[in-house]
Amino acid sequence: MKKYLMAMAMVASMFAVGQVIADETTTSAPPAWEKENPIKPLPKPPLGIESTLQSLKNPPTPETVRLGRWLYFDKRLSSDNTISCATCHLPEYAFSELTPVSTGIHGKKGNRKAPSFINQAWTIYPHFFWDGRAGSLEEQALGPVANPIEMGNTVEDMIASLSDIKPYAAYFKEAFGTEEITKDRVAKAIADYERTRMSGNSAYDQWQENRFKDAYVESKEDAIIKKGFELFNGKAECNQCHLGQNFTDSLFHNLGIGWDAKEEKLADIGRYEVSKKEEDKGAFKTPTLRDVTKHPPYMHDGSIKTLKEVVEHYNIGGHANPHLSTKIKKLNLTDEEVGLLVKFMEALDGEGYMDVEPKAFPK
Ligand code: HEC
Ligand code: HEC
Repeated sequence: MKKYLMAMAMVASMFAVGQVIADETTTSAPPAWEKENPIKPLPKPPLGIESTLQSLKNPPTPETVRLGRWLYFDKRLSSDNTISCATCHLPEYAFSELTPVSTGIHGKKGNRKAPSFINQAWTIYPHFFWDGRAGSLEEQALGPVANPIEMGNTVEDMIASLSDIKPYAAYFKEAFGTEEITKDRVAKAIADYERTRMSGNSAYDQWQENRFKDAYVESKEDAIIKKGFELFNGKAECNQCHLGQNFTDSLFHNLGIGWDAKEEKLADIGRYEVSKKEEDKGAFKTPTLRDVTKHPPYMHDGSIKTLKEVVEHYNIGGHANPHLSTKIKKLNLTDEEVGLLVKFMEALDGEGYMDVEPKAFPK
């Protein structure tokens, strides 16, 4: 008993010392930018996402995600402080954008649409970019920084400008143990922020969750989702490529997008650039269909304006060209069936990924 009391007294005095130190350091309030981007627990995956961030091989931590959120939205990563990742991948458009191709530094235009990266923490194959040239989100993240028409910087200059922003060092320490700012750490932090952008709990997910329950009564909306689902996986065979929890096989297929029938050539050779395989000419990565309503126009070149026109493209069997995927053929869908497939895709609008730019950054 006596021993116990002594131990208690020691703990109490240690605690008191701790208090004093804490008081001294908190006399100056934490910087305003911390309030705008507090450390938060990792988000739980929404309904329909069967994986957890914690089970990833090198999982994000609340600290890497906080740092990554700043870096993602920070325009100082570009050569003239005008462009951040969010310039082209906007939260409100499911981290894509509403233009057919992207406009980067000094108004320069690229030739591909900025894809959505929601639910990319889990992919069937590690393929990033429309042609799959990056093998991880980390590898992907530094690409735009050094791309002359995106952020127009060099990785070395980006690291130098981050090092000049003195308060950033503390957040690299918080995330990685030491203050060192390296390209690998920048990439990991941004990639971890991206991994937390998940979408689920859509009308479709709720229908999947409820339809086998005893008390389930089918609503009018659910009846439409069901018909669309049956077409998607049946007559229209969309699930040959749009499959799994994120509705993509993460593989490459040629649908004839960008084929110029008069000139008989492709505007963009796509996956062929990476694989040099003949069958990959004009093939692009299957994009996710989650929240697809949020970011028209569609396809790698933004050449199709609406979801209805996308389904009509499939209905006629794509654009004939020498490398058309053998999975693409005429579907003979009626107008009603086309409409049901559009409704089905609308039911994939989910939640969980929304964010806004932090109001303050380390400076
Ligand atoms: C100027 C516009 C622009 C900026 C800025 C930009 N991106 Fe992109 N992003 C694109 C375009 C366009 C593509 C598709 C390019 C391709 O596939 O060749 C893309 C592709 C991606 C992909 C691949 C998604 C997938 O499904 O394969 C990810 C992830 C991504 N960007 C993240 C980022 C991050 C992180 C940053 C900031 C460091 C960033 N982007 C900055 C336009 C931009
Ligand atoms: C052979 C594989 C395959 C099949 C089958 C398929 N898709 Fe696709 N889908 C793709 C690929 C690949 C792209 C991107 C093509 C490109 O940009 O060149 C795509 C793009 C899309 C897009 C545009 C998404 C965006 O973000 O731009 C929608 C919508 C879509 N598909 C819906 C469907 C529907 C509905 C069906 C069934 C009628 C279907 N797909 C069948 C592979 C397929």
